[in-house]
Amino acid sequence: DHGYGPDIDHVLLSEQQIQGRITELADRIARDYEGREVLLVGVLKGAVLFMSDFARALRLPTQMEFMAVSSYGSSTSSSGVVRILKDLDRDISGMDVLVLEDIIDSGLTLSWLLKNLGSRRPASLEVCALLRKPDAIKVEVPVRYVGFDIPNEFVVGYGLDYAERYRDLPYIGTLKPQVYSA
Ligand code: PRP
Ligand code: MN
Ligand code: MG
Repeated sequence: DHGYGPDIDHVLLSEQQIQGRITELADRIARDYEGREVLLVGVLKGAVLFMSDFARALRLPTQMEFMAVSSYGSSTSSSGVVRILKDLDRDISGMDVLVLEDIIDSGLTLSWLLKNLGSRRPASLEVCALLRKPDAIKVEVPVRYVGFDIPNEFVVGYGLDYAERYRDLPYIGTLKPQVYSA
């Protein structure tokens, strides 16, 4: 576990649960987009592990783009301020765009991102989020594909960080309170 074991309070989703759900999502999305090429837009940095596994599970030709936006800095709660840190490298007009996110917390990041990407005239624009916290939603976002609805707890692993750590864990879990006070 990369030496993080002592920091983890409990495992919410195991590696096996995550990979199993990604296979299900990929199967469904492959049917929905049959015969088309999909432009995956990963939201850095959290979606990197999800994008990597999802693209391999999806039996369709894909292209990959990345966008970096930040709403949190290093704190654990959303500020509502979205900044573009890195834009797409290309025009997405006429393309079937599928945005990949690791988590929808308040929904503020994605709500802003969908407006931004929608204005670039893609042929279609949908979202696949691995995690969603229904109790933390501040703004409704139309999300077609969701991996897991989870409780309103701060989680790390599988791309999700606390102060940039724990992204490399293959599972998703919660941190012991002492980690936050250290
Ligand atoms: C996290 C997460 C989502 C967003 C969700 O990213 O990866 O992108 O916050 O929060 P929201 O629904 O309340 O907007 P973060 O800004 O921490 O950047 P990171 O992906 O680089 O960790
Ligand atoms: Mn993110
Ligand atoms: Mg983060």
